[in-house]
Order: sequence, then structure tokens, then C-alpha cells
Amino acid sequence: MDDYREISRKELEVMGAFRAPWLRPAFDAVDREAFAPDQFWSYDTDAEGLHLVVDRDIDEEAWRRAVWGTHRSLIMQIDDAVLPEHGPAKGVFTSSISALDIVFEKLNQLDVGPGQRILHIGTASGYDSALLCEAVGSENVTTIEYDRTMAARGAANLEAAGYTPTARWGDGLGGWVHNAPYDRIIATAAVRDIPRSWREQAVEEAVILVPYNTLFCTGSLLKLTMQGGAASGRFVGGACYMWVRGHRPLNQLRPPDDSRKDASVIDPGEVFAGGWEQQFALGLHLPDVTFSHRGHGEERQVQLWNEAGTSVAVVNYSQWWRPGAVTLYGQRDLWAELVGVYGAWRHSGQPHYTRFGLTFDDHGDHLWLDEPSNVLRSRQK
Ligand SMILES: C[S@@+](CC[C@H](N)C(=O)[O-])C[C@H]1O[C@@H](n2cnc3c(N)ncnc32)[C@H](O)[C@@H]1O
Repeated sequence: MDDYREISRKELEVMGAFRAPWLRPAFDAVDREAFAPDQFWSYDTDAEGLHLVVDRDIDEEAWRRAVWGTHRSLIMQIDDAVLPEHGPAKGVFTSSISALDIVFEKLNQLDVGPGQRILHIGTASGYDSALLCEAVGSENVTTIEYDRTMAARGAANLEAAGYTPTARWGDGLGGWVHNAPYDRIIATAAVRDIPRSWREQAVEEAVILVPYNTLFCTGSLLKLTMQGGAASGRFVGGACYMWVRGHRPLNQLRPPDDSRKDASVIDPGEVFAGGWEQQFALGLHLPDVTFSHRGHGEERQVQLWNEAGTSVAVVNYSQWWRPGAVTLYGQRDLWAELVGVYGAWRHSGQPHYTRFGLTFDDHGDHLWLDEPSNVLRSRQK
């Protein structure tokens, strides 16, 4: 059997995953195999679109290759309840062991130092909690998991591997006041807001590192520093994570029947042209708006709607300049809002998403460009 751990180690080395000196020995010390269940799903699907189970008892080589695969997470739960023991399945992934590349990138970004107290939200398997224990000692790590089954598994894995952090079943959005204050707070599920409890449980200058999604576009990593009760910082990279429970989008549509027609002033293909980085930058300005595409060729349309589901815009790609290309339902003109945001972003030189930052304080959240004082929009609590 190939030495998949060594293959992964070399690949992570080349990728700069061990920039912080403690991370290489931590990779060597924590055996990921001890945290992976005997069965999990892979991203590969069968003819019916069901994710295939990787089973250690059936093919140990395939299991080990997947466990040490550098770029793919291991899916442990679907739709909050379905487990790989039930066989091939499809649905929303609700618990996984994160991919090695993002686990180590985040730990690099966390700037961990000896003796710091760390709060981790989203224990799942316990693998990255164990890495944190290597950094600061088990006595300084608190890890919280919302799902009861996963919390029990994660705690058992940690104990079996010789780590003794505070590992609890609970809602991490409330933090864990009993071990506060913390020097570092790290989440391994995506948020769209920083709970007040985290700010209250963090020391001055604490780092809060979270995957951050908008409804418009998922997948960024936000690094905040606490100052005077506010958490403020920039986006520092990409990070695709499942939503933290409590922040999942409602995904509902209940617009009024009446509609009105309009023309577009810009080709919708331009607004959606720039890929993830452009979409993420635009979505930051419209935090409650999402979209989907449908149809092909002459029939291609984009549909925007707000989280309350009360306003909808449907825009034709074909002949977008003609009256009737845009159909609007509800009070808001979501297409005009997006076009306005796109225009402002173009006029300011198409800033890369890493130039944007957020500040969370007692009043709400504030989106800024380059400097916290250059506020572009504020959302009141
Ligand atoms: C991507 S997994 C974490 C992966 C984990 N770090 C690992 O490598 O094993 C996200 C986990 O966050 C948990 N989670 C979601 N919302 C949560 C919440 N509000 N509080 C605590 N845990 C939560 C999910 O149940 C899931 O197990």
C-alpha cells in the first residue's frame, strides 16, 4: 500500500501549509486516520447522483487514499441525520472532516502562540481540535459541536487519541462562557454574522477566524481582530464551508402575484462575468439577496430574490435592452440594486475582494473598503 500520509505531507509542504513552525510537527503527531470513520461518502456519485460510500472494510487502500487526500473533505452526514451506514445518498452535506489544505491554511492564518486559549466551533471528527491541542495544550482548547451524534464521536475520537480539551455538545453561536475569555476563536462552519457572545468572550486583540458566506456567494475566509468591543478585519482568502446552524438561509419565495416590466441598462452577462471573486465582492453589498440561473440560449434568465422571499427580479439574457426583459415582483427592484452595486464597484476600479473588510459592533455590521473608516454600507441590528 502506498504511504498516503507521506504523499499528503509532501504536497502540503509545497503548498506552504506549514508556514507556522508548529504545524509540521502537529501534522506528524495527529493521525488523521484515528479521526476518520470507517465509512464516509466521497464526492463521486453513481448513475442516480447518489454519493458513493468509501468503506474501510471493503477497500482499505481507497479509504486511506481518501483520508489523506489533500483537497477533499470526507462527508460524514447528509441532511442533518443521514449517515454513511445507510448507503449511497444525496442531499445537503451537514457534517464532514474538512480537507487538509484548508485545515492547515486556516491554522496558519490563526497566528496561534503557546498558552493561548482557543474556542473552536464545529468539532465534527475532532481532527482540527487535536491539532489545536498540539499547539497550545488540551487544557487551553474548548470545542463545541451542535450535532449530538457528531459531538459524541468527536469527543470519543479526541479522548482515544490522548487529547483532553473541553469538548461539548451545544450551539457554538453562544460561545462557551465557562472557559472564557479566549485569545483565538475559530469556526469550521460558515457564518454571516459574528455573535455578540463571541465578542464578549474574546480578549482585546483576540483573533476571530471564520468562513464567511453571503447568500449571494459563499466561500470566503474572514480574519477579525478585537478592539474596544468591536471585531474588525478583512477577507484573507477562500474557504468553502457548510453553513453554521442558526445562519442557514431561509430559501423561501412568496412574492405578490402582481408584476411590472422594465428594460435592463446592462447585459446581465457582464454583471455575472467575473467568476467567484467578482460575485463575492458584489454580494457583500447585498447581504440578503441570492440568485439562480435557468434556461439556455434564448431562454436563459437570471432570477434574484431576497431572503424574506417578498421581492423577485427575473432578467432575460436575450434582448436585455428591451422593455419587458426585466420582470419585477414586490417592493424592491433587486435588479436595479445589483446594477447599482456593480456600477459602483466598476467606478471604484473593480477592487479585489481582499480589499474589503467588515466590522461587527454593538450597532450592527459595517462593510468597508481598504480602511475601517471608509464604510460602504452599514446594517443595523
Ligand atoms: C465542516 S464540519 C467541521 C469539520 C471539523 N473541523 C473536522 O475537520 O472534523 C462543520 C461542523 O460544524 C457543526 N456545526 C454547525 N453549526 C454549529 C453550531 N451552531 N455550533 C456548533 N457546531 C456547529 C456541524 O454539525 C458540523 O459537524
